[in-house]
Amino acid sequence: MLKKQQEFARRRQQFLRMIGVGNIAVFASASISMRNSDVEFPFRQNSDFFYLSGFDEPESVIVFVPGRKQGEYILFCREFDEKTALWVGANAGLDGAIKDYAVDDAFPIDDIDDILPGLLENKNCLYFPMGAQPNFDQKLMDWSQQVRSRSRAGVSAPAEFISSDHLLHEMRLIKSAYEIKQMKKAAKISVAAHIKAMQSCRVGMYEYQVEANLKHHFMNEGAQQEAYPAIVGGGNNGCVLHYIDNNAVLKDGDLLLIDAGCEWEKYASDITRTFPVNGVFSDEQKALYQLVLDAQYAAIEQVQPGHHWNDPHDAAVKVLTQGLVALGLLKGQVSTLIKNEAYKPYYMHRTGHWLGMDVHDVGDYKLDNQWRLLEPGMVLTVEPGLYIQPDAKEVDEKWRGIGIRIEDDVLVTKKGHEVLTEATPKEVVDIERLMRAANGT
Ligand code: GLY
Ligand code: MN
Ligand code: MN
Repeated sequence: MLKKQQEFARRRQQFLRMIGVGNIAVFASASISMRNSDVEFPFRQNSDFFYLSGFDEPESVIVFVPGRKQGEYILFCREFDEKTALWVGANAGLDGAIKDYAVDDAFPIDDIDDILPGLLENKNCLYFPMGAQPNFDQKLMDWSQQVRSRSRAGVSAPAEFISSDHLLHEMRLIKSAYEIKQMKKAAKISVAAHIKAMQSCRVGMYEYQVEANLKHHFMNEGAQQEAYPAIVGGGNNGCVLHYIDNNAVLKDGDLLLIDAGCEWEKYASDITRTFPVNGVFSDEQKALYQLVLDAQYAAIEQVQPGHHWNDPHDAAVKVLTQGLVALGLLKGQVSTLIKNEAYKPYYMHRTGHWLGMDVHDVGDYKLDNQWRLLEPGMVLTVEPGLYIQPDAKEVDEKWRGIGIRIEDDVLVTKKGHEVLTEATPKEVVDIERLMRAANGT
């Protein structure tokens, strides 16, 4: 069996054990979204569904029935169709599903209404991703109701509906060696794309031309989808947290904030770098940039097994607040300013999120109402920033319109952490040196 298939088989075994004999779990694939008329958006499989199956087709449903004699892992999918094969390429079909995806039993998706209620009979708990796909939730209710209506024939419908999120997302939160390998590959491609963006940036380019260079590198390396739409914001646009218009001209003297990452084998990378369009930081830009960088180092230092989720955020907030006082943007006592969240007009988001198959990946941040402890195998981003809005009248004019974020992807290891994206330059001298060399100056 291929390494990749072994990985999926291992996940299924673990999941089957967790749900236990007498219960059942059902997951539907993602659906195709129409862009307009008969043109589709590129298909992206649902992450839970792919995590357990590796199956990349729409119109599919997987079912887990621990202890079922004829097989515990069932797939409903589209039958092989010659016309589809001719127009868009071959789909697996039932034989392919059994041969290439190690399913025990495969059925045509068109037969699901006839078959699935039978699988629900006499099961205790039904696990499914409650609320994630409301139309599919409704189908599960209808199928369960069909079983319930036959109770006088001696069959029972699942008495408990349980969200699969907790079991499955705890699994997804702790990355296996295979997953870390994919995330390192995603990181490597994105690191190189950011370096190319810095090297190719020139005054007078449009933001979308920088975006094109990033995407060219992703695609050229085989990463055909981005993990999220790239943010490429020059000057004031760097102060817009989720700016994606990316259509302005890059001006001399402005900073450029790029938040972009590719997806590799369904695993995300998520990097932000901020650098001067002309290759040289002004004094004000440098002062704020160094402050964000110091906050990021302090936050990354807190990524250790046994530390809690909020430690990196607390560390970043402390450094940022101290620095804002030192630079004169905030006035008062640091501890009081932190308590009153005085930094929030300039730092309004959190310092990171889980990273994995989804850019904002699954997994609880609190357990029993307490920030959870970091454990080896978790991957998170560390991404402090400062955004001095163009109309921030309360601060000296020289600071206004400066938006900075620095973001890396960090793996929690047994001994501490590993920064998966650290090869992306972020020291002032390194960025200026790289850009000087690229500009030939
Ligand atoms: N790129 C989205 C984020 O950093 O959260
Ligand atoms: Mn992020
Ligand atoms: Mn990001």
